[in-house]
Amino acid sequence: MIRKIAVLGAGTMGHSIAEAFAMHGFEVNLFDTDSNRLQAAKEEIRAELSLLAAEDFIPQPAIQATLDKIAYFTDLKQTVIDRDYVLEATPEILELKQNLFKQLDNLCPPHTILASNTSSLKLNDMMALVSPSRKERILVTHWYNPAHLIPIIELSYFGNMPEDLYTQVEALHLAIKKQTVKVLKDVPGLVANRIQQGVAREVFSLIEMGIAAPADIDKALKFGPAFRYATTGQLEVADFGGLDIWCVVGDNLLKEMDSSECANKLLREKVQQGKLGIKSGEGFYKYSPEKISAIKNDFMRKLIHQLKASEYYI
Ligand SMILES: NC(=O)c1ccc[n+]([C@@H]2O[C@H](COP(=O)([O-])OP(=O)(O)OC[C@H]3O[C@@H](n4cnc5c(N)ncnc54)[C@H](O)[C@@H]3O)[C@@H](O)[C@H]2O)c1
Repeated sequence: MIRKIAVLGAGTMGHSIAEAFAMHGFEVNLFDTDSNRLQAAKEEIRAELSLLAAEDFIPQPAIQATLDKIAYFTDLKQTVIDRDYVLEATPEILELKQNLFKQLDNLCPPHTILASNTSSLKLNDMMALVSPSRKERILVTHWYNPAHLIPIIELSYFGNMPEDLYTQVEALHLAIKKQTVKVLKDVPGLVANRIQQGVAREVFSLIEMGIAAPADIDKALKFGPAFRYATTGQLEVADFGGLDIWCVVGDNLLKEMDSSECANKLLREKVQQGKLGIKSGEGFYKYSPEKISAIKNDFMRKLIHQLKASEYYI
């Protein structure tokens, strides 16, 4: 049974993964090599919990109770020495993750299960330097940003881990009210990111061709397909609409749509111009610096409302 957890890397993903476990009563050790980042993570977690309380998603006393469940570390051995489950959310660099898993193999008790939040690296490559017995206790668990709010966790089921251990990891995520997806093959992007990139490719192409303005394209998605997708998956949508219709429309439309195998030209040009989105003040839209924190809070607030509503349709 998994009780004691460690999260390694307190950046964008790590801090909110630690928060998600702590919100549901798990003891979490949060580790980072950068002590300033740990301090910033503590403040981010407090602010995110305060927003959850302000939106009546958690009771006010849960803020302090959650904060009390998280301990902060810069010493890896102390972080993991008594842990049942260790998840790494460190930079997406293969050598870094390989060496980290090798260290963890030596520092953790034999029963510890290790997990990676990688977005694009193969499990087999990441566990190249660990012992054969530990290879049975490693998996990919892919969270979505912001991790404390987005329900999906993709779990790898690639044949290296016995069924009973996989079931323990699955139960851990169900206990913190997440929805798990069992991914059967070690493919880049797993399931959710591949779906998302398919949508993004067409959206960037529509902008590039001048088919509609950015706000209208986003509106078409939010109030069209995505409105339905929040409650109904693509395969259900196809069944409801009729597979014969989907077949005809696919034959007519897919040959007209973008099929490029790399990032869109317009997207690349924006990156080259330093237009990186909210973090640089401009992407497809413009953001004035004084409004950025309000915009981010508004994004989180909408997700909290959606999460509340989702309790009715799960
Ligand atoms: N950002 C996303 O939307 C997202 C979504 C899903 C998965 N991921 C994956 O999660 C992982 C982390 O991404 P992120 O966006 O949180 O990165 P990030 O850069 O925000 O955070 C990484 C943290 O790791 C710390 N770090 C560096 N070396 C370390 C080490 N050896 N041990 C422990 N900590 C170390 C850094 O100080 C930093 O705080 C990556 O594998 C990424 O691909 C990211």
